[in-house]
Order: sequence, then C-alpha cells, then structure tokens
Amino acid sequence: MKLVVTGANGQVGWELQRSLAALGEVIALDRSQCDLSRPELLPDVIRSLKPDVIVNAAAYTAVDDAEREEELATIVNGFAPGVLARETARTGALMIHYSTDYVFDGCKASPYMEDDPPCPINAYGRSKLAGEIAVRQAGGPHLLLRTSWVYGARGRNFLRTMLALLRERDELRIVADQVGAPTWATEIAQATAAVVEAAAHQRTEGQFESGLYHLTAAGATSWYGFAAAILEGATRGGLLAAGRSARLVPIASEEYPRPATRPKNSRMAGDRMRARFGVALQGWEKALSLCLEEMRACEAA
Ligand SMILES: NC(=O)c1ccc[n+]([C@@H]2O[C@H](COP(=O)([O-])OP(=O)(O)OC[C@H]3O[C@@H](n4cnc5c(N)ncnc54)[C@H](OP(=O)(O)O)[C@@H]3O)[C@@H](O)[C@H]2O)c1
Repeated sequence: MKLVVTGANGQVGWELQRSLAALGEVIALDRSQCDLSRPELLPDVIRSLKPDVIVNAAAYTAVDDAEREEELATIVNGFAPGVLARETARTGALMIHYSTDYVFDGCKASPYMEDDPPCPINAYGRSKLAGEIAVRQAGGPHLLLRTSWVYGARGRNFLRTMLALLRERDELRIVADQVGAPTWATEIAQATAAVVEAAAHQRTEGQFESGLYHLTAAGATSWYGFAAAILEGATRGGLLAAGRSARLVPIASEEYPRPATRPKNSRMAGDRMRARFGVALQGWEKALSLCLEEMRACEAA
C-alpha cells in the first residue's frame, strides 16, 4: 500500500509517519511539497505519486487568525481537500480527512453525534465544514474523522503552552466553561492506522462504506480541568522545577475574549467509530500521563 500524508510537520501528520509505516510505503509531504493554499497544483502532485491512500493532516488551524483570513482558511480547509478527494475519486484511492468539534455551535447539552446538524460559530469551523462537504461531494471512497483539542509532545498546542507558562508564572487564569476531550495526536495517528487497515480489508471484501466518524479521547473536561491535570502530572513527573507551582484560577469565556468564539460544548460521542472499526481511544487523563511521560523521557535524553 502506498500512503501519502499531507501536513507532515503538524502534530497529527508527524505521528502518522510512525503509525502508518507498518501498513506500507509512507510518503509524507510538508507544506513546501504539497501546499493546500495552491489547490491548482495538487492534481499533479497526487498524480505523480499514485497513492492508494491519502491522509490529509494538513490544515489551517490558527482558529483566531482565521477570523481575518477566512478566505485563505477556506481555500486550505474547504477547497483543497475537495481537490484531493476528487483525485482519489478518480483512481479509487481512499481519502482520510480530519475535521473538528468546531463544526458545532456547542449549544447541545449532551455529546454530539455524527448526525447532529453542524452549525459553526467561527471562521475556522465554517472552513472545516466546507472541507467535509467537499470531500463527501467528490464521491470517492473516504472517511471523515472529527477530532478535538489536539495536543502532543511537539507542535503548537495547549499542553506545551501550559507547560511553558507554568514554568514562568505564579497564577494562570483558565477558561472553565468550555468542555471537550483533549485528544493526543499520537492516539489519533494510531487509530487512523487501525482504521486504514480495517478499511483496506473491508474494501477487499466489498464491504466498505464511506462515512463520518467522531474520534476523540474518552471522557471530557474543561480547559481549566485540562490545565489542572497538566500541572498535577508535570509536577509528579518532574517536568517542573522542584517546588515550582502556580495557582490556577477558573474563569468564564467572556473574561478571556478572543477573535473567534468557541463552542461551550465540544463533546463528541465515539460510538459509531467503535461499532464500525472497533476503535476507541482511552480516557484523556491516561493519554495525558503517557504524553507527559514521553516528554519527560525526551527531556532526560
Ligand atoms: N489542533 C487541534 O486542536 C485540532 C482540533 C480539531 C481538529 N483538528 C484537525 O486535525 C487535523 C490535524 O491537525 P493538527 O493538530 O495536526 O494541526 P497542526 O499541528 O496545526 O498542523 C497542521 C499542519 O498543516 C500544515 N499546513 C498549514 N497550512 C498549510 C498549507 N497551506 N499547505 C500545506 N500544509 C499546511 C502546517 O504546516 P507548517 O508545519 O508548515 O505550519 C502543519 O504542518 C486538522 O485537520 C485539524 O483541522 C485539529
């Protein structure tokens, strides 16, 4: 199997290079090799590689910047995935594409299901929803995987920002009224590999169906709860200097105004993924502790 990964230097894209390696030849393309802001170049890139699977992990992910760059975000997140999906539709290759909890407005009181109507409340969410629609409309074999609150040992994410701030500041004010599932990039990549393998088998058996799936860690917390767990885990794991601590203060979203409004409820149910592919991610606390362990091992090395 030949697998092309876009967004090779992103959190998920980086991890995919490891997790997909067992399935075949992985060709990981960074922005300079596959620029989604230049969709007109994509058909040639894909046709020259002739992949069996494209995993599109590239995305415009700067949620606040997207408010003033919605056109660019929409090209990268909305239009370009459609071009990639049309290429896979042409050859019958499988397209895996990631989407986000931010396609929802967050007003639902319980976890979102795949069939709940999306209603994004910011530009990033609108651009990602456009991508879902474009991939589906291309009509080829595809899987849309919605995830949330992605973090990992590398890249730009809440965990790494918190660790840096916890080393510097004595008090941090953290939003406590947005709830979701922090999801480890390593686990997203491992689950993706399991899904690609299962999908390949299903396709051989003629049993494959394209579809939309939620893929997040089990459980949920607020950004404040996530920060508290990071502080606790980092202290226990020796990632903070001895005696170093900080006071965490829970605040409302309104006390931390950002250009982009965030949904209050980002919880997404993963039952469909479990039923169809037998894939379920572990609880977010366990995944966080494994990620912190990995970071400590890297720092010690
Ligand atoms: N991060 C989250 O919290 C989150 C939440 C829900 C869903 N998701 C979705 O999950 C997927 C993976 O996200 P992630 O967390 O791995 O994102 P990430 O760490 O921000 O990585 C995104 C990657 O996309 C690349 N990229 C940006 N613009 C590009 C362009 N014009 N052409 C080609 N590549 C471009 C970036 O390249 P550079 O390295 O050159 O900057 C980066 O490598 C995305 O579909 C994202 O929308 C993410």
